[in-house]
Amino acid sequence: MIKQAIIPLAGLGTRLLPLTSVFPKELLPINGKPGLEYILDECIDAGIKEIIFIISDKKKLIKKYFYNDKFYKKIIKKKKDKRITKAYKKIQNYKKKIKFVYQNKPLGTGDAVLKTKKYISESHFLMLFPDDLIMKKNCSKEMILLHKKFKCSVMASFKVKKKDVSRWGIYSVNKKINKKNFLIKDVIEKPKINSAPSTNAVIGRYILPKEIFKKLEKQTKGIGNEIHITDAIRKLIKEDFKFIGHNFAGKYLDCGTMNGYINSSLEISKL
Ligand code: G1P
Repeated sequence: MIKQAIIPLAGLGTRLLPLTSVFPKELLPINGKPGLEYILDECIDAGIKEIIFIISDKKKLIKKYFYNDKFYKKIIKKKKDKRITKAYKKIQNYKKKIKFVYQNKPLGTGDAVLKTKKYISESHFLMLFPDDLIMKKNCSKEMILLHKKFKCSVMASFKVKKKDVSRWGIYSVNKKINKKNFLIKDVIEKPKINSAPSTNAVIGRYILPKEIFKKLEKQTKGIGNEIHITDAIRKLIKEDFKFIGHNFAGKYLDCGTMNGYINSSLEISKL
């Protein structure tokens, strides 16, 4: 079973400036709730027991959000407000499951994942990107079921427009398993339109094998001068590790760009 999840949170969030100049993007409210709490709720509902946050010194406010006990206790004693007590209990419940590791140099997602190496105890683990919200259906839960059935790695995916392929990791299909699941042949990080092998984009949910760490230790920088998780996954696929691309059923909301962030609150309020 998949019991551990990791969440990279050390990114600078420059696409959301000025909102992120002093405040971590993952704590920005989306329809009245910090974006990160949607991700945590998805993990917990999918049966995850331990969640590892990869933060940086610049993003210490994220830790503070979960460790503000003194403040809450004082306010609750004084105000006896049920709503605040409930909110605090929820945060305490999250806190029990969270560990923190640090990535102080923004070298890329691959480097962020490598920081969690010594904490991963199972054969596979889940990774979620907080920019990618998937609503209505629990994508992590669907992927964990697939992993159980096929005993392999899984990446969430959907079809994008050809003109947008350079924004995503793009994979080619080896074999169609069924309508929603595909055995992956190869994956390329942010290809040029002309060299993209398809329009199947990888979205921010991954079930990865522990062997990824060995690849990441040797992984050199790729496109944009960053160490990409996609490049390490590619090496595993070349060594016959099975990866399934899973076209998820839920509603995707891209919260990492200004337009996407604004739109996500509107969309969630309509659900
Ligand atoms: C990352 C991955 C990319 C993936 C995307 C999903 O890119 O590198 O392969 O398609 O997340 O959101 P980023 O959004 O960090 O540029």
